[in-house]
Amino acid sequence: MILDGARAQSIEQAVHALREGALVGLPTETVYGLAADADNPAAVAAVFATKGRPSDHPLIVHVPDAAAATHFAAEVPAFARALMDVFWPGPLTLVLPRRAGVAEAAAAGQPSIGLRCPAHPVAQALLRACAAAGLHGLAAPSANRFGRVSPTTAAHVRDEFGDTLLVLDGGPCAVGIESTIIDATRGAPVLLRPGQIGRAAIEAACGERLRERDAFATDAPRASGTLAAHYAPNARLRLMSARELQAGLDLLGADAQCAGLAVYARSPLQRVATGVLLRRMPDDAEATAQQLFAVLRDFDAQGARLIWVESPPESGDWDGVRDRLQRAAAAG
Ligand code: TXA
Ligand code: MG
Repeated sequence: MILDGARAQSIEQAVHALREGALVGLPTETVYGLAADADNPAAVAAVFATKGRPSDHPLIVHVPDAAAATHFAAEVPAFARALMDVFWPGPLTLVLPRRAGVAEAAAAGQPSIGLRCPAHPVAQALLRACAAAGLHGLAAPSANRFGRVSPTTAAHVRDEFGDTLLVLDGGPCAVGIESTIIDATRGAPVLLRPGQIGRAAIEAACGERLRERDAFATDAPRASGTLAAHYAPNARLRLMSARELQAGLDLLGADAQCAGLAVYARSPLQRVATGVLLRRMPDDAEATAQQLFAVLRDFDAQGARLIWVESPPESGDWDGVRDRLQRAAAAG
């Protein structure tokens, strides 16, 4: 059931459900989450079961503010504190040492906990109302079945899990790809997942060089967003240069009837066969991120079996989009 997240009544209903151990579809500025009381192991188990997510992949816990992080985190290193000061509330997740005995199930048994303070007004309203009712945080992975494309509208969440799930509608997500994740348990910041907040901004905010996760690969914590094949549409996805794209279209010929092929490209293309689903990719990374998952879902809904996507530029502002597309391509 989709409820208007802007209404106080909807927030009350969601808090009630969460206190009972039920799950709630939660709008955030990145993607929609599938939320449960982080301190309720049965509710957290339901999140894993509903998503079909392996139980050793930890969930992100959402908190209303930095002060609330202390319920879950045993300590906050100075560089992580600096990142919270600059980027919270916002699309940044920090992996911190976990307080012993707290949110064990959400953390999938890891000695660490991923914490995020979302900026979306509906998420903020819900987290504050939860806090007033004695709930310290909401464990919420993206509200999609394991391995699939993350939802960026309330309707996407209903498409994933059906109408029995209570979903707070907060409109289309403004960021569109999942939060940047920084591991802050290793003495220096390590990038686990790129997102809208980029390397340069992170390094400037905390005064430390951002390390790559590969440097620590041997004991890197499991992060499903970091599996090679993830975020996949039903159709097979291929990343191609503008030249390869045009060559592929030329092979088909303009007169061909071509159902089942979708193209998402920035460069202008000629001789596009009838029936090809063509969407123009915006010139800037933020606008592309905002629409990316919705475009992939749309192609699926229109029956695409193959999606040709023009490779994003190599520059750092495209890191998040490039990462999601490479993983989607690896799943094919
Ligand atoms: O933008 C987002 O982060 C969205 C919204 C709903 O907040 N959430 C999200 O959650 O993307 P999820 O579960 O789909 O991705 C969480 C990622 C996973 O790759 C998970 O393994 C990693 O965060 N993670 C969570 N806790 C962790 C921990 N203690 N150590 C390492 N990775 C962790
Ligand atoms: Mg996810």
